[in-house]
Amino acid sequence: MRTTEETRQSFAIRMRNVEKRIGEFQLKIEDLTLEEGRIHGFIGGNGSGKTTAAKLMMGILSPDAGTIERKDLGPRDITMTSQRPYLLHDTVYANLVYPLRVRGRKPEESQVRALLARFGLEDKAKQYARSLSSGEQQKLSMLRALIFEPRFLIIDETLSNMDPESVEQFEEMILDIQKKNPVTWVIISHRLSHVYRLCDRLHFFSRGSVLASGTGDEILFKSSEPEIRRFMSKEMIRSGSAES
Ligand SMILES: Nc1ncnc2c1ncn2[C@@H]1O[C@H](COP(=O)(O)OP(=O)(O)OP(=O)(O)O)[C@@H](O)[C@H]1O
Ligand SMILES: [Mg+2]
Repeated sequence: MRTTEETRQSFAIRMRNVEKRIGEFQLKIEDLTLEEGRIHGFIGGNGSGKTTAAKLMMGILSPDAGTIERKDLGPRDITMTSQRPYLLHDTVYANLVYPLRVRGRKPEESQVRALLARFGLEDKAKQYARSLSSGEQQKLSMLRALIFEPRFLIIDETLSNMDPESVEQFEEMILDIQKKNPVTWVIISHRLSHVYRLCDRLHFFSRGSVLASGTGDEILFKSSEPEIRRFMSKEMIRSGSAES
């Protein structure tokens, strides 16, 4: 049997009895544990509390009640990207290297160029970042999150406007990182095929709570929860196509 200490070691973030009220919305999470070095997916309808839970994990919001434990994660080890990227009023290059600069690290020019080139942004280093297309802004936002090699990343709908090839490239990049030096991810997405392919565990949100946690198969295809079955019945993907 595992000791408490061993159990403690195995998670990156743990929320217990967390409550947060925002206007009419009430978030209530009894126990949400994110195992270290795993890719977690948050899924669920609009307004179910995914982004609010993510902001609590990041410390952007404070809970009204309950505890949020972050194991060995300081503010400089974690990052969150959002659907509408917040970009500095500066060039693509300046945005990309910003996380290194604030950490007192010098950008490695070859690494920066290679990252930009990998995602078709090599000619845009000097462009005003906010003039990029929305998919390009999302790519920049992802690269900016990855460049400083964080240990905990929350990706909130950041791949939603990217073309399929770019999404695939990021998926490869994420899996590559996991093979070499696993970090902890939260991927919030309405693209179920994407979370199914990538995530080790899914957490299904409903009206401010986590209704179920489990593997992609357990949550998407084997759940007996009526609400999850209803949610899935609206989705275009079926078991076969989700695996493609
Ligand atoms: N500042 C705010 N003032 C009032 N209500 C808010 C505020 N921020 C969030 N909410 C409400 O909290 C609820 C949960 O929002 P949240 O952003 O966590 O949902 P979500 O699951 O991320 O949804 P989506 O899939 O649309 O991104 C929503 O009903 C939202 O309107
Ligand atoms: Mg959201």
